[in-house]
Amino acid sequence: MNQKTTLNAIAQQQWLGTAGDALQPAVLDAFKAGGEAGQEIKNFLHGVWLGHPLHPAITDVPVGAWTTAAVLDGLELLGKEAYKPGADAAIAVGLAGAVGAAVTGLTDWTGTTSESRRIGLMHGLLNAGATALYATSLILRRRKKSRGAAISLAMLGYGVVSAGAYLGGHLVFGKQIGVDHTATADQYPTNFVAVLPENDLAENTMRRVEAGEVAVLLARKDGEIFAIAHTCAHMGGPLSEGDLLDDDCVRCPWHGSVFSLRDGSVRNGPATEPQPKFDVRVQDGQIEVRLQKAES
Ligand code: FES
Repeated sequence: MNQKTTLNAIAQQQWLGTAGDALQPAVLDAFKAGGEAGQEIKNFLHGVWLGHPLHPAITDVPVGAWTTAAVLDGLELLGKEAYKPGADAAIAVGLAGAVGAAVTGLTDWTGTTSESRRIGLMHGLLNAGATALYATSLILRRRKKSRGAAISLAMLGYGVVSAGAYLGGHLVFGKQIGVDHTATADQYPTNFVAVLPENDLAENTMRRVEAGEVAVLLARKDGEIFAIAHTCAHMGGPLSEGDLLDDDCVRCPWHGSVFSLRDGSVRNGPATEPQPKFDVRVQDGQIEVRLQKAES
């Protein structure tokens, strides 16, 4: 079975869909039950404060620590007993990192659908299985019994976590989960271009317009006109079909990310990268926009 067949087989698993149907709303409800604090925690776990998804940064901890443990275990098997404590410590560090990776990954997973959700769930289950294997290995190491079995469990865990990491890579590079869907700034106009007659943008409304090759969201509130990228940074949702909020923000219709219309910043995730912001002016009755230069 080649890689594509394996990925397709995972994506077609009905039981993963059924489990996702039950688990995803339960996780989202848990955050909602926490009110504003729950939303703040959710934003933190997505990585809104970092301007980048937090999960992929944390996954380096268990993968790196357990790779170290595999090397040190290998040296021990070659008779170098002095590396034993180092291997045990690396497994403990990896377990601590795995908790952070699991919590952030579960939070990001709530913003996935269909095939990505099924593959994401399998990714999580494999990593949970690897964590259980490493935890058991550490218990055996601490009891100073069955050293051979402890090392075998860790080696098995390394194989399982590698399979989980492969699926994680596929979610990013194959399914574009966690990438910035507005990362095409070189296509945005840097000189003013006319996009809409001013009279065609009513008060308290939003419209999608084209500025050269790219879609821009125009919004009018209290007579002020705002323009940010139309495609949601999270997974490409059409912001003009979302909600125009009272505090000069827009909510994405797909997974509820909230962006400021004033500066494109993320107010609520799952998006972590801001929306590109445009300067706006009205000339000869036409609304004109250009990409706002980043502050240096
Ligand atoms: S596409 Fe997911 S929040 Fe916009």
